[in-house]
Amino acid sequence: MRHEGVYMLKKSLAFLSVLGILGLIVFSLNAFSGIDEGTVTDPAFERKTRGTVAFDHDMHMEAPGVTDCATCHHYYEDGVLIEFESSEGLSCSECHMGKGGDIMPLIEAYHQQCRSCHIEQQAGPVTCAGCHEKP
Ligand code: HEC
Ligand code: HEC
Ligand code: HEC
Ligand code: HEC
Repeated sequence: MRHEGVYMLKKSLAFLSVLGILGLIVFSLNAFSGIDEGTVTDPAFERKTRGTVAFDHDMHMEAPGVTDCATCHHYYEDGVLIEFESSEGLSCSECHMGKGGDIMPLIEAYHQQCRSCHIEQQAGPVTCAGCHEKP
């Protein structure tokens, strides 16, 4: 009986630490995410010079041209696009910090992804003031 009690205690401790780790993962996703209450505000831009950009994440999953999460959260390995693989657990800045090299700087990554689809679909804002609220 006594052994069983210890076993149960160990088990619940293990369970609690799993919960703790899950909590940390969820917390860190949110802490470093650029999605905040219906806006994209990427913490990787240290100094903001433009106003906040509205972005309805849920609505965009149903927008025309969006076939899956990887439409925006694409995944590359050694510069090669891996089809059917998505990077939704990674922020854009994880890859697009643009310290020289071939990779598109973060600001262009956002602009090209957001704007080119709006132009293609003839829907959604395409001007600076259309996306960036007045600061
Ligand atoms: C139209 C583009 C677009 C589509 C489609 C899209 N996302 Fe995102 N998502 C974004 C952008 C932009 C961010 C902010 C990126 C950053 O912070 O680096 C983001 C952030 C996230 C985050 C970070 C945590 C948070 O606060 O939400 C998760 C998780 C996520 N997306 C999951 C998904 C999943 C799952 C799908 C598909 C069901 C999806 N996304 C489809 C653009 C998109
Ligand atoms: C796993 C790393 C990685 C992540 C995460 C990532 N990218 Fe990319 N992305 C790349 C690489 C590598 C290329 C190809 C080289 C280049 O054009 O910079 C690329 C290309 C692009 C391009 C040009 C080609 C195209 O598909 O239109 C845009 C725009 C872009 N990324 C935007 C984004 C945005 C916005 C996010 C976040 C929602 C994001 N990327 C997340 C690695 C990544
Ligand atoms: C794959 C295509 C696609 C991508 C990528 C995309 N959008 Fe859109 N967006 C749309 C479409 C389509 C609409 C029009 C939806 C409608 O009016 O029903 C739209 C509408 C919008 C609107 C207007 C919403 C409203 O209520 O009128 C904003 C703001 C917006 N997008 C911001 C962004 C931002 C910021 C990004 C990049 C982080 C982005 N979009 C990326 C397709 C896209
Ligand atoms: C389709 C939407 C869209 C359009 C159009 C657009 N932007 Fe952005 N821009 C974004 C998004 C999304 C980000 C990343 C948002 C963030 O984290 O603050 C961004 C980031 C920026 C940043 C870096 C962050 C900052 O505040 O300093 C600058 C500068 C900027 N945009 C300038 C412009 C200018 C200038 C124009 C017009 C020529 C423009 N943008 C048009 C969506 C857009």
